[in-house]
Amino acid sequence: MKDTPIPYEIVEQKIKESNLPKIGKASIREVKRLINEIEQASGKKFIRMEMGIPGLPAVAIGLEAQKKALDNGVAALYPDIEGIPELKREMSRFCKNFLDIDVKPASCIPTVGSMQAGFATFLTFQRLHKEKDTTLFIDPGFPVQKQQHRILGAKFETFDVYDFRGDKLKDKLESYLIKGNIHSIIYSNPNNPSWICFTEKELRIIGELAKKYDAIVIEDLAYFGMDFRKDISIPGQAPYQATVAKYTDKYVLFISSSKAFSYAGERLGVMVLSDTLFQGKYPDLKPYFGTDNLGHAIVYGSVYALSSGTSHSAQYAMAAILKACNEGIYNFVEGVVDYRDKAHVMKKMFTDNGFKIVYDKDEDQVLSDGFYFTISYPGMNGEELIEELLYYGISAISLAITGSQRLEGLRACVSLVSKSQFPELQERLIAFAKNHPLK
Ligand SMILES: Cc1ncc(COP(=O)(O)O)c(C=O)c1O
Repeated sequence: MKDTPIPYEIVEQKIKESNLPKIGKASIREVKRLINEIEQASGKKFIRMEMGIPGLPAVAIGLEAQKKALDNGVAALYPDIEGIPELKREMSRFCKNFLDIDVKPASCIPTVGSMQAGFATFLTFQRLHKEKDTTLFIDPGFPVQKQQHRILGAKFETFDVYDFRGDKLKDKLESYLIKGNIHSIIYSNPNNPSWICFTEKELRIIGELAKKYDAIVIEDLAYFGMDFRKDISIPGQAPYQATVAKYTDKYVLFISSSKAFSYAGERLGVMVLSDTLFQGKYPDLKPYFGTDNLGHAIVYGSVYALSSGTSHSAQYAMAAILKACNEGIYNFVEGVVDYRDKAHVMKKMFTDNGFKIVYDKDEDQVLSDGFYFTISYPGMNGEELIEELLYYGISAISLAITGSQRLEGLRACVSLVSKSQFPELQERLIAFAKNHPLK
């Protein structure tokens, strides 16, 4: 039995009691529960890096606008399913100012978080073409989106992009698209869990191939603006958030309020369809949605059936935040640089103690520091590592649940770790390295 920061026997007992066959295969919520129990039994706090939840206060401009909207009585009223005009207008401006793309307000549809944007999109795209029935995930990815596919009985294929960066992406992607069954391609950028960001070359490859094979690109921008290597925060001025929208006219963007504006609790996202797609006609939709128009089917078919739109007052919050961003009054990138600064210090602590960063480069460029990073420890697979780290009071999730082939890797999230915990993290990592000497 080793001398570990969290008493060995307590961790061992709680793992046994959890009845989880493999900690490394457990879902994020299961890991969270186990850690809560270990914390309670040991009286020691973990360095919690398993959950991807914001660790910053909600943007105050949003709170003010939301309170005002509530005082004005919106809680009693159903919002329009297509969203309140203020939010649609400000999102259209936001897309121009920070992505340098033109989308009409009508094509910007508020949803119950990006989570629902995904569900509504997958649900609808499954019915787009009789002959195309499959989504392609460029992994690693956000596990719930695959769960949404399973629940819907929707087909998907996936590959880990780790070995297919840069020019290599073209042949790999084409090997799927050429089969003719792919209706859409999905990825997040910056990527949850790996924090890779596609380069312009890669976005061009994705966009051009999607065009060639008539596939739609779903770009999940949950971490908008958080590729901190370039500052996209000045409205209407380059550089902009990188996007596939520059390379194809059939795209859907998910823009979430959760991380960029620390507004996760109010469950508000916006699904932005390209105007071409919003106005697009797909006859195979008709039996399910009573219309062949995609925009109409998504709004009055899927979003209506799922939740009849989304929180009325939160829409006012996001409209006000976006307006402040558009007018240069609120700098949303500055609002979240804390994640970059923490990642910078934490990554160094891990690598100084023998850990490796698994996804470490975008082609020849070192990754940005940000919300997540990935780690491995020589000689251990991810399942072993996640379990072993529990004895050191450090929690993370396994990359194995994200579609990554890097089975040695874990995802670490910086958001809930406070800077005051850094000395403790340092001590625990030193203890880990001491007990696991590298050859
Ligand atoms: C890639 C990705 N997409 C979507 C979401 C969910 O966003 P929302 O809170 O807007 O539903 C998350 C949240 O962690 C995410 O990481």
